[in-house]
Amino acid sequence: MTATPLPGGTWTLGDLTVTRFGYGAMQLAGPGVMGPPADRDGALAVLRAVVESGITHIDTADAYGPHVTNELIREALRPYPPELHLVTKVGAHRDADGGWPPARDPESLRRAVHDDLGRLGLDVLDVVNLRLGNALGPVPGSVAEAFGTLVELQRQGLIRHLGVSNVTPEQVVEAQSIAPIVCVQNAYNLAHRDDDELIDGLASQGVAYVPFFPLGGFAPLQAAELSAVADRLGATPMSVALAWLLRRSPNILLIPGTRSLAHLRENIAGAALVLSDEDLADLDKIGR
Ligand SMILES: NC(=O)c1ccc[n+]([C@@H]2O[C@H](COP(=O)([O-])OP(=O)(O)OC[C@H]3O[C@@H](n4cnc5c(N)ncnc54)[C@H](OP(=O)(O)O)[C@@H]3O)[C@@H](O)[C@H]2O)c1
Repeated sequence: MTATPLPGGTWTLGDLTVTRFGYGAMQLAGPGVMGPPADRDGALAVLRAVVESGITHIDTADAYGPHVTNELIREALRPYPPELHLVTKVGAHRDADGGWPPARDPESLRRAVHDDLGRLGLDVLDVVNLRLGNALGPVPGSVAEAFGTLVELQRQGLIRHLGVSNVTPEQVVEAQSIAPIVCVQNAYNLAHRDDDELIDGLASQGVAYVPFFPLGGFAPLQAAELSAVADRLGATPMSVALAWLLRRSPNILLIPGTRSLAHLRENIAGAALVLSDEDLADLDKIGR
């Protein structure tokens, strides 16, 4: 794959420039995000193609596998190109059933950051998101103790920039009252737009919004309006969904996940799709 300019251009996370078109590594682990991938060489090839395509933002977490995606990233990409930035998240363990029990006490968070550093083979993590809430979404409550622990690790020089994930708008405000954040990573896509107001507020502050499940996650996006727009444009629904996110707000960064080289290529090309006012109006009807 040759690097041509990626759709959406770039964004800065603090002092780090990243392509708005990034890559989410979660799907590279085995079924249920547990264990190794069925096609290990294929997973390594996807990661190498991500970097060859010019993408400079990869989202990962030591909980994926657990450890699997971080180890694949290290094997495929180290020594890392200087322009590549790895964004990790901490705040959950994995249990034997594949669950994601919270791990937000100070000791677990310190261990998680050191695990990320060790497994990725880094001295400093570029961006660490504190993941809150549960599998159903954000859960209100104070973030002070957990976020404060990450701020302490940042002061020790182990983390460059902080973010928060799976959070309510109030938790974003509380975190920002403790220390600056460069990104918020929440579930958002054409059909799940609870964060519309939050996205606009963050845009006005220059803070990135990174939607997880941009393509619907484990349940691919499906809507009659989406299919109709895709058909009209001769494109796939996934392409329309990604192009819509890039168009939605300049602070939105994409981290679509795939274990397929063909889908990676399709997503990069598809995100460049130009949507007309008519397309946008039709897509706005989804989920309303
Ligand atoms: N902060 C959090 O709590 C949290 C939670 C979940 C995820 N995340 C992050 O967000 C990233 C993105 O989320 P996600 O990967 O779960 O969901 P997603 O990007 O919405 O969707 C990924 C799914 O879409 C499929 N797909 C991708 N491109 C496709 C295409 N062109 N055509 C058809 N199917 C396509 C993939 O299957 P194939 O492999 O077959 O392409 C995969 O099953 C993750 O990788 C992870 O880094 C964060």
